[in-house]
Amino acid sequence: MEAHQRTSSSEAARWEGMWSAGLKPGDAFDAARVEPALASAIALDDASKLDPPLGMSRASEMTALVPGCGRGYAVAALAKLDRFKHATGLEISSTAQKACEDYLKQEGVQSKASVVVADFFTHETQYNLVYDCTFLCAIPPSMRESWADQMSKIVAPGGELFQIVFPINESRDANVGPPFALSKSLVEGLLVPRGFTLVSYGASEQAARKAPGAEAVARWRRHE
Ligand SMILES: C[S@@+](CC[C@H](N)C(=O)[O-])C[C@H]1O[C@@H](n2cnc3c(N)ncnc32)[C@H](O)[C@@H]1O
Repeated sequence: MEAHQRTSSSEAARWEGMWSAGLKPGDAFDAARVEPALASAIALDDASKLDPPLGMSRASEMTALVPGCGRGYAVAALAKLDRFKHATGLEISSTAQKACEDYLKQEGVQSKASVVVADFFTHETQYNLVYDCTFLCAIPPSMRESWADQMSKIVAPGGELFQIVFPINESRDANVGPPFALSKSLVEGLLVPRGFTLVSYGASEQAARKAPGAEAVARWRRHE
């Protein structure tokens, strides 16, 4: 299956407009912190208690990607984990890239983290761990198949897609967004046919965002 879509210039301009209007920590989708679900997985992983570990291997020198990273809370959090040699953020907005660079500097992780202005749908590098949080729900529903095609290319064989499934809200019109409503069956329908196995799925103990729906954590392994 081939990714054959890319982000339209109007969609890219809409995101840049949102950022350049002065989006601050805590505004709109910005949670002003790394999601508690990722933070707790990182804490467990660091103590070598997470089974399977983030990235699905205990090898050092792993790489991580955060598509649509925004201000980069997750990029910084992953970069601080010893076993990742580098964490990369992807942003379509150059204003978001600047905000992320400032944040990475503030967190003192510039030597292990970076942020690139690029369209996720045309990105080609592979990573051991890809973290998707409020990215799938942010893209137009017509691009979801291409999102899944891309994930099957950029998650390295045996690697992990760590996904925050949000917002889960059955009463929300599926065509209203962003954020567009997601569900377990929706993400399974996208990823299982492309060689991903669901390793674990469960409600977040402490969701990062209260509205417009609930949050779950899905951990996927890409087949070797
Ligand atoms: C809903 S926001 C989430 C940001 C961040 N994950 C967070 O939780 O704060 C979605 C982000 O994805 C970026 N984005 C949208 N489409 C993109 C694309 N095709 N490639 C890379 N970034 C994209 C937007 O600029 C925006 O910052």
